[in-house]
Amino acid sequence: MFSAEPHLIGMAVKTKLPQNGTHTAAPVLHQRSKPIQKYGTVVHLPIGLDENVRLESTNNLNQVLADTIMLRDLYKKHHWQVSGHTFYQLHLLLDKHFEEQAELVDTIAERIQLLGGVAVSIAHDVAEKTKLERPPIDREEVPVQLSRLLEAHETILKEAHEFAKKAGDAGDDGTNDLLVSDVIRTNELQVWFIAEHLVALPVVKADED
Ligand SMILES: [Fe+2]
Repeated sequence: MFSAEPHLIGMAVKTKLPQNGTHTAAPVLHQRSKPIQKYGTVVHLPIGLDENVRLESTNNLNQVLADTIMLRDLYKKHHWQVSGHTFYQLHLLLDKHFEEQAELVDTIAERIQLLGGVAVSIAHDVAEKTKLERPPIDREEVPVQLSRLLEAHETILKEAHEFAKKAGDAGDDGTNDLLVSDVIRTNELQVWFIAEHLVALPVVKADED
């Protein structure tokens, strides 16, 4: 069986070489095997962090990852389904935020892998793991769409603050930095841009005293 332990890779890989005159250009299809690493475990990588620290960070980052994948997809849903007189600006803004959340997804997932963990990725697993409320498959009014986005941001921000402190206290400075510099700052800025669209102000004629 293949192993994810780097020091074992050289000895664990078994390649069946073709016998004399049996080389073929045909691809070997429909392959399956046992997993090389279970989700929720870490393999050793020489980055100066103890296993228990890396395990806690990967567990916490997987929660942020699942919620960020959900928020990313919520932005695309609303990018498509937004309506009304602010359609054009919201259509563009929501797609910009989608792109930024997609960048975060990749950054978080790759940190989980470099810590020796396994990043959650597929929709079924994300749906089971996320803390965010499942939106309806139906199209909703714009204020509801924007409210959902703000609630999702706040959930992610709360957990990011909590996990950043835990990572910092445990000595995992890289995870602390990712959560503060990338996750928290990106989400805070996006909250501002979305929340300003929910301020009920007159568009043409100001209220008179
Ligand atoms: Fe689009």
